[in-house]
Amino acid sequence: MLEIGRASLLDTVMSNNKQREGLFAFWREVFFISRKLDMDSLISRIKQDGTVLGADILKVDSFLTHQVDPKLMRQIGKVFAEKFKDAGITKVVTIEASGNVPAAYVAEELDVPMIFAKKAKNVTMTDELLTADVYSFTKKITSTIQISRKFLSETDNVLVIDDFLANGQAALGLISILKAANTKISGVGIVIEKSFQTGRALVEETGIPVFSLARIAGFDQGQVVFTEADL
Ligand code: G4P
Repeated sequence: MLEIGRASLLDTVMSNNKQREGLFAFWREVFFISRKLDMDSLISRIKQDGTVLGADILKVDSFLTHQVDPKLMRQIGKVFAEKFKDAGITKVVTIEASGNVPAAYVAEELDVPMIFAKKAKNVTMTDELLTADVYSFTKKITSTIQISRKFLSETDNVLVIDDFLANGQAALGLISILKAANTKISGVGIVIEKSFQTGRALVEETGIPVFSLARIAGFDQGQVVFTEADL
């Protein structure tokens, strides 16, 4: 009698555990799908509002590089934060101007400061500066980017965020500043990667992983052709 009671109690506990596991798997699935959907919304937005200019430029000034869609930026912030939530990130670093927007949302989600490298020195920048020369293939100019030494230390663990990865010069400039400051660099997070350009390979050659939310394989008759994204 006691044995039967114990067996049925065990059955009940087991079935409760199974239900709990089932419920956990269900919510994990819902969360995964909603995360996936978030970045589907970036892809849809590029398809809907992006304009291909010439052979290799994508204009996304209606939601990312000029006018900004804060809801989409918040989703972007959440996806990167989810990826790096256990990495011990202490700073998010980017380069002005358009990098500032996604980077600020990622930093808010991770609850850490965001630093943007400046392209021009102003009168308030009286502290020691870490600098790197960055050549822009699209603008055909070299700018010296700079970050105040006092904002970076050897104990920092940095996530680099930028809006575009094209030829990788901006990301490499940031990496060289971060290396000079002896910080850890956990990754480079990119909103739109043009995978047909050299940037990703150049960054990966430094040993730092790249995570792009949208990866463009190329342009075909004014249409964007995507390849599989990282997140
Ligand atoms: P890199 O960013 O990988 O170094 O490549 P590149 O030198 O080609 O890019 C220079 C600038 O042009 C960067 O902005 C980059 O974000 C932007 N860019 C590159 N390709 C595209 C593109 O297809 N579409 C758009 N909209 N921008 C592109 P920046 O110099 O940092 O300037 P800012 O515009 O953020 O101020």
